[in-house]
Amino acid sequence: MRNQKLRGAARAQEGDALGEAGTAGAGPGPHRDVIALDSVSRSYTVGGGTVTALTDVSLRIASGELVVILGPSGSGKSTLLNLIGALDVPTSGTITIAGRRIDGASRADLFRYRRESVSFVFQTFNLFPTLTALENVEFGAEVAGGRDRDRARRALVDVGLADRLHHFPGQLSGGEQQRVAIARALVTGNPILLADEPTGELDFHTGVQILGLLGEHAAAGRTVVVVTHNREIARAADRVVELSSGRVVADGPPPGGPTDVRELRW
Ligand SMILES: Nc1ncnc2c1ncn2[C@@H]1O[C@H](COP(=O)(O)OP(=O)(O)OP(=O)(O)O)[C@@H](O)[C@H]1O
Ligand SMILES: [Mg+2]
Repeated sequence: MRNQKLRGAARAQEGDALGEAGTAGAGPGPHRDVIALDSVSRSYTVGGGTVTALTDVSLRIASGELVVILGPSGSGKSTLLNLIGALDVPTSGTITIAGRRIDGASRADLFRYRRESVSFVFQTFNLFPTLTALENVEFGAEVAGGRDRDRARRALVDVGLADRLHHFPGQLSGGEQQRVAIARALVTGNPILLADEPTGELDFHTGVQILGLLGEHAAAGRTVVVVTHNREIARAADRVVELSSGRVVADGPPPGGPTDVRELRW
């Protein structure tokens, strides 16, 4: 696997960011799992009925992996990502991040986890409308530990927005707002990156650029989980976890193995 060599470095980085994580369930060894879900289900009560978004999902993801969660609308992709990001809690099952259970964790631990370990690109961007592109990205860096205008600027340059630094979200196109959201997540340096449909608003050329960037972050040792319903995008992943009606129906490398993003077409 192309990211394997970098995993040692990634584990060191992850140790820093996640602090003195316990070892329960993590185990030593060369491919320690950063993310582990065991028999996770999530259901919601709506209008007296029950909606089941995820059923009995078990999953292990190692550092340095670029994993795509693939599935049609309503299959549970965002629910799964929200659970990994501790924005939601499972109805049953356990979620362990770097050896530490996050289901049932204290508010203080969850706050620390969200700030220091995980970065989110939301399906609906969630930019602050009264902050410029640069200020939005700086804010992301600040939450994760340090306001740094130069780093924020570089992150925006990386996503192709060098000439939109001082625009407010309302002055940006959907695809540009999406790229600000991606820059805001990348600038934190947190070891786990969760991206919900990060290329949804992007044209093909920009989408390929962003996927390449996410691949570089995985190759540098971050754990990158990308949600999409686009089967072509999934070809660029190390591994594709396919959901259908809230269940994992396939989990493995894409057919033919990971493809260079420059060869994708959508
Ligand atoms: N807060 C909630 N309350 C009730 N039902 C919910 C809630 N969140 C999600 N669901 C339901 O759970 C199912 C999975 O939703 P989810 O948002 O995870 O799908 P998705 O795969 O991300 O879809 P999309 O590709 O459209 O974003 C859907 O049927 C949805 O209606
Ligand atoms: Mg979704």
